[in-house]
Amino acid sequence: MQNQPVLGIDIGGSGIKGALVDLEAGDFAAERVRIPTPETSTPANVADVVGEIVAQFADQMGDGPIGVTIPAVVTHGITRSAANIHKSWIDAPAEQIFAEHLGREVVLVNDADAAGVAEVMFGAAKGHQGLVLVTTLGTGIGSALIYRGVLVPNTELGHLEIDGHDAESQAAASIKTALGLSYDEYVPRLQRYYETVEALFWPDLFVVGGGVSKASDKFLPKLNLHTPIVPAHLRNRAGIIGAAWLAADKANHPERAV
Ligand code: BGC
Repeated sequence: MQNQPVLGIDIGGSGIKGALVDLEAGDFAAERVRIPTPETSTPANVADVVGEIVAQFADQMGDGPIGVTIPAVVTHGITRSAANIHKSWIDAPAEQIFAEHLGREVVLVNDADAAGVAEVMFGAAKGHQGLVLVTTLGTGIGSALIYRGVLVPNTELGHLEIDGHDAESQAAASIKTALGLSYDEYVPRLQRYYETVEALFWPDLFVVGGGVSKASDKFLPKLNLHTPIVPAHLRNRAGIIGAAWLAADKANHPERAV
């Protein structure tokens, strides 16, 4: 891994956040910046904001790729879905739009995949050699499946159909907030979600991220599963750190390009 810090940028529904990441330490190398997400959050408008963040750090990083997360399926740099973001991301050549706008290489990845990789490299599942399933509970539910340290990208397990519903429409943290549920009222929804995922994937470890994981002691111990389930460690730093890691990994392994 290179010694120079790598820029990671996390595109969220309300804010676009960026920080230089020290990949030896697995943490921010300098303070994070945050700019509100533009109201009409099309790829071009978001690229403008990403450009502002890059400009702030340009003289402190190398000329390698930057890592950027997006809450969408990303295959070959193209965003394929838009569950909780502007519909114009569907089938947009987003990686190329960013790269042209910034004049530098961009590695665009799913937000949960980035967070998952960070938790396995540096966080709650550091060094785990089995099958780790990281889920993020937020506006939607994100998932990252990592086996022996290798990511299986774009698993989208927030969209499993459970009891006739899109799973995230029942069990995302935003639903807890929207319905004003207590943690005890939220637990059965999480139980149904995790027992279904467990029965299909049988991971060795579940890691639970997203803002609500701050209060994990109020709900994780109440879940009845075969699989150990632990809170994420890196919290809202995970996406940025994982994006930077994936960008450096891609630059270091051009032979893996598909
Ligand atoms: C999206 C995923 C994303 C997750 C978390 C889901 O609605 O389909 O791509 O990872 O939300 O943001």
